[in-house]
Amino acid sequence: MNQQQKSPIPTVIAVLGATGDLMGKKIVPALFTLYQEGALPEHFRVVGFARRPLSQEEFSARILEILHKHYQVRATDKTVKEFLSFFSYVQGNFQNQADYHTLSKEFQRIDSSWGLCSNKLLYLAVPPLLYSEILHNLAEAGLNKPCGGPQEGWTRVIVEKPFGSDEKSARALDVLLGKLFKEEQIYRIDHYLAKEMLQNILAFRFANNLFEANWDNRLIERIAIRLYESIGVEERGSFYDGVGALRDVGQNHLLQMLALVTMDPPASFAAKDIRARRAEILQTLHIPSAEEVRRETFRAQYEGYRSITGVTADSMAETYFRVNASLTAPQWQDVAITMESGKRMGKALKEIEILFRHPEHCLCPPESGIHYRDSVIIRLEPVESIVINFWSKKPGNKMDLEQRTLAFNLRNGKFHTQYTEEYKKLLWDCIMDDQTLFVSSDEIRAMWRFVDPIIAGWQNGAVPLERYAPDAKRVARIAAAVMEYAQADAHKTGRTIGIVGAGKMGANIARRLTEKGWAVQVFDRDAQTIDALRREGIAGFSTVSDLIAALPQPRIVWLMVPAGKPVDDALFGAEGVSRYIAKGDRVIDGGNSFFEDTQKRAKKLEKLGIRFMDVGVSGGPGGARNGASLMIGGSEQDFKQLEPLFRDLAMENGYGYMGKAGAGHFIKMVHNGIEYGMMQAIAEGFAVIKKSKLAPNLSAVAEVYSHGSVITSRLMDWLKDGFVYYGDELKGVSGSVAHTGEGEWTIKTAKKLGVPVKVIADSFKFRVDSHKHPSYMGKILSMLRNQFGGHAIK
Ligand code: BG6
Repeated sequence: MNQQQKSPIPTVIAVLGATGDLMGKKIVPALFTLYQEGALPEHFRVVGFARRPLSQEEFSARILEILHKHYQVRATDKTVKEFLSFFSYVQGNFQNQADYHTLSKEFQRIDSSWGLCSNKLLYLAVPPLLYSEILHNLAEAGLNKPCGGPQEGWTRVIVEKPFGSDEKSARALDVLLGKLFKEEQIYRIDHYLAKEMLQNILAFRFANNLFEANWDNRLIERIAIRLYESIGVEERGSFYDGVGALRDVGQNHLLQMLALVTMDPPASFAAKDIRARRAEILQTLHIPSAEEVRRETFRAQYEGYRSITGVTADSMAETYFRVNASLTAPQWQDVAITMESGKRMGKALKEIEILFRHPEHCLCPPESGIHYRDSVIIRLEPVESIVINFWSKKPGNKMDLEQRTLAFNLRNGKFHTQYTEEYKKLLWDCIMDDQTLFVSSDEIRAMWRFVDPIIAGWQNGAVPLERYAPDAKRVARIAAAVMEYAQADAHKTGRTIGIVGAGKMGANIARRLTEKGWAVQVFDRDAQTIDALRREGIAGFSTVSDLIAALPQPRIVWLMVPAGKPVDDALFGAEGVSRYIAKGDRVIDGGNSFFEDTQKRAKKLEKLGIRFMDVGVSGGPGGARNGASLMIGGSEQDFKQLEPLFRDLAMENGYGYMGKAGAGHFIKMVHNGIEYGMMQAIAEGFAVIKKSKLAPNLSAVAEVYSHGSVITSRLMDWLKDGFVYYGDELKGVSGSVAHTGEGEWTIKTAKKLGVPVKVIADSFKFRVDSHKHPSYMGKILSMLRNQFGGHAIK
């Protein structure tokens, strides 16, 4: 808007409901700002109309009070005095026809004082319940009739959201409005359309060449729209209780945000073209079936809401919701859309996240298992910004990637009080006859058509109303998990799993299972890890209790933490899994625990009625991502029941039942002993070759060994790859070998059993000694550990 521009036509705004909330919070502050900017017409008046018996002075005092609250002005200021002189008051009862004639007389008085026919703006600042009666009475008093034409002397009407309470009532209201006003006279407000950042969506998409060509389902995978408020319902209890969050902000603000990010380019930037495009895309919203409402929606109410004045004691109004949606428009098919909003969510977060697909041909380290997805975030709060997350090479020898961000803030600091900026723009546009930021009746109906079946399902009790603790975002995490479970459940029951520990192995197991159709929920202490997984569409939790609460019973929890104390902590510590799970739940230790520890833990958990399994996982992070080898211990019945899980995790035929509790870890321990010995033999052999200088190209040797020879093996493959990567000299690789001590367990166990294990014992001793005597053999071992396990090479 060009602030210098102002309407030359004298204008009168009549506010019906001038003593209400809207006047104080939105209309007066916005008008005062317009006045200060010199944007109001030369001849300008505001006529307040309301039930209260107020004198002109008392009404002026109320306006002054509003100004004080917002702008700390003084009554003696010249500008304030002039601004107050715009206001007059007509006391009237909304039901009483005669009072509308008084209002009409006030209009005539103003017009004759100016000696002309002025523009009239009728602002319905009342609860929608009163619309019908007020509109009838306005018409009866002839107030809907302009005294001039469309350019000068017009009459326009402003209506606030919610526009109706469902499609039927919105249609009825339209019919009524349509009898009294033409569509171009009707201004339906959704203040989100006037937000800078939302207007910016059109600029971002249609004034740049960078993104729009990729802006559809070929490259976009999902769209998430969030409107988390820190504030609660406050003093709006009785209004809010009648609508609930979905009708308060979902049916309008969130769907408008969706329309702006998904609409086709308009033929021109004229209001009619932009509104038509918004309506077109909203009309392609898939209307959810009863079953989809059950599965794809979640609602909750914050604790303490029911004690707010105006809220009923048994209120079922939701103050939080999460809803999945989809568009049938061909360019948006298969793009997952989530809309979510809540009050008292802790810190405010208002944003649209657009997540792009993993590239078909990706220069990505294949072993990492990460889905390299970019995202664009259009954020309104806490800071108005556009953020682009993308992948970039991590500086260093290896072709590792890391996530980087390009971002800009639209402006700095706290920019305006709630509503003022938007209402200023809206009122000005209404005076200037620009309907771009107002909602058309086609849009309203399309939005209700989507929302109505959800409300109906909720009223039928198809989706329970959950409770949540205010001032935190926990409810959002639970909602995500519950809905993900419900979706997975739609395919196969029971395919939900919680993973404790999202290190290299845990995160890749999560990714593998997600791909196989499991609903996976992960706990990790590290917030960045959780965020990264969330960006990949995996639900992440920062506390064990949240994770467990989000899992359906009987639960399956997979521990993926380092052996020893971390496992005991994860099971029995202050935040241990056993504190939150219940009888019949299953816990699987997928780490490298010592089998005797496992046997003890199994006994302890058995007493609590918890079914414990131990799984040795071999194949490193690459195996976890693409199919591992699993050695499974525990009860055979549990093994059978969980077989689909193991089948999905393992490579083909790569899993098996080893025996009762501890057997899985025992077999993995022996495997690790063998691994030590085999690696040692390879290291020794190659040290000999290197020393002899007879075959100087070690890579060539490894290449031949790994094709059809007796010692062809995964270890040999890794050795070959390592030579390619680090060179035959293995520069930069440590000659001392790290070890976890697990090799020693095999030796101790063998000793107890009276079995001599010379090779394994020697290979273990070699690693211990290598710290004092680094060597080329040590380098080979370090490098192999790095290749299969991602362990440090230095
Ligand atoms: C209004 C809702 O439309 O939007 C309120 O009725 C909500 O409940 C508000 O708080 C949010 O608007 P904003 O501009 O603060 O994001």
